[in-house]
Amino acid sequence: FQSDLGVVTEGREPPAFAFAFDIDGVLLHVSKPIPGATEVLQFLHDYNIPFILLTNGGGKHETERVRDLSEKLGVPLSTDNFVQSHTPFRELLEGPDSLRDKTVLVTGSDYEKCRAIFKEYGFQNVVTPADIYAADPTIFPFQPVSTFTAPSQPLPKPLYHPSTSPTTSSVPSPSELAPYLKIDAIFILNDPRDWALDTQILTDLLLSHGGYLGTYSARNGAAALPNRGWQRDGQPRLYFSNADLLWSAAHPLPRLGQGAFQAALAGLWRRVTGGAAELERTCIGKPFGGTYRFAERVLTRHRSEVLRRLVAGTAAAAAATTTTTTTGRRREGGKGKGEGGEAAGGGGDGLTTVYMVGDNPESDIAGANGHVSEDGAEWVSVLVKTGVWREGRGTKLEGEFKPRAVVDDVKAAVEWALRREG
Ligand code: G3P
Ligand code: MG
Repeated sequence: FQSDLGVVTEGREPPAFAFAFDIDGVLLHVSKPIPGATEVLQFLHDYNIPFILLTNGGGKHETERVRDLSEKLGVPLSTDNFVQSHTPFRELLEGPDSLRDKTVLVTGSDYEKCRAIFKEYGFQNVVTPADIYAADPTIFPFQPVSTFTAPSQPLPKPLYHPSTSPTTSSVPSPSELAPYLKIDAIFILNDPRDWALDTQILTDLLLSHGGYLGTYSARNGAAALPNRGWQRDGQPRLYFSNADLLWSAAHPLPRLGQGAFQAALAGLWRRVTGGAAELERTCIGKPFGGTYRFAERVLTRHRSEVLRRLVAGTAAAAAATTTTTTTGRRREGGKGKGEGGEAAGGGGDGLTTVYMVGDNPESDIAGANGHVSEDGAEWVSVLVKTGVWREGRGTKLEGEFKPRAVVDDVKAAVEWALRREG
């Protein structure tokens, strides 16, 4: 990767800038590296320029996904500089509303993998749609799709079965319901495969009284309810990890993503509630601020680790000391970034600029443009043409979707950034 500009990492500290790379459409098309991706990551690794991978993908545990990515891209990666869609859900294990000991339903491309991810995170009671179907096949009158896997464990509690067909008055008393399974929260970890089974069970839960499958509360979704219906009836909270309507896979045209499942469920909910209610849910992932704040914390911790490695004088530090062109900005202070202006904020040991390289204006570009750093770093959005967006196809690059630069691919993005830093 011979850039006509070098950078100096004086063997003392990483530069004051860093990168955040989206994966699908920037580095990979599913499992095929995009030209330049390996070269770029190897260059940044060799010169100790910190970067994180920030993806709306999910469905595998971080350690498994990072192992896969290292093999596919041919560069050493670690969970220290990797954030995927559901990684921030770990934070729901802490605090007064902790879900650690609650019962949560998870779904995605592989039920058992989703369960294993959440158990490893620390959630104690994790249920899948397969568990529920195995406990009561009548809940879904069709045969689940071929990817259906028999559950690895029985439900922690039996399902409530109304003696009569459920009616609005068939809401048993709390004491009657106590022995039965109550789902407290629902998580979509990546793109569900069995939309039919999942939407049936999710709809049952959202219409239930307090998360007890088999009960029915007409109040849920009723127009009369204030828009916080689930708090009134204790419905399970619904969490999506990714809002992407489209993403860039191996097919030449963008593919439907988890956002499509969310839109389908929201449309179904409007019908099922007689047009009364918008589906109440929480969605994380790019472009949402919580994910960018989480990602910046991961990047800052990772950058400190790069610093520790350098200062510890490991072999990597020796290789990282280079005499090529200097960025100058950090040492001289105030030198512009190519736009002739003052260097924005930062300088010194702090991280001043994060270059967010993405292919989707609605997640990568909007998220970086809208992110307000807790440490004063400026996130600069760079759009590549190897993914969802193409000239003449996709979101208009205006307002929140307007990137600082549009370049051909990830290599051109890094070169643009290095020139801007030079
Ligand atoms: O399912 C993954 C897709 O929604 C987008 O992934 O890496 O482009 O954020 P990524
Ligand atoms: Mg992408």
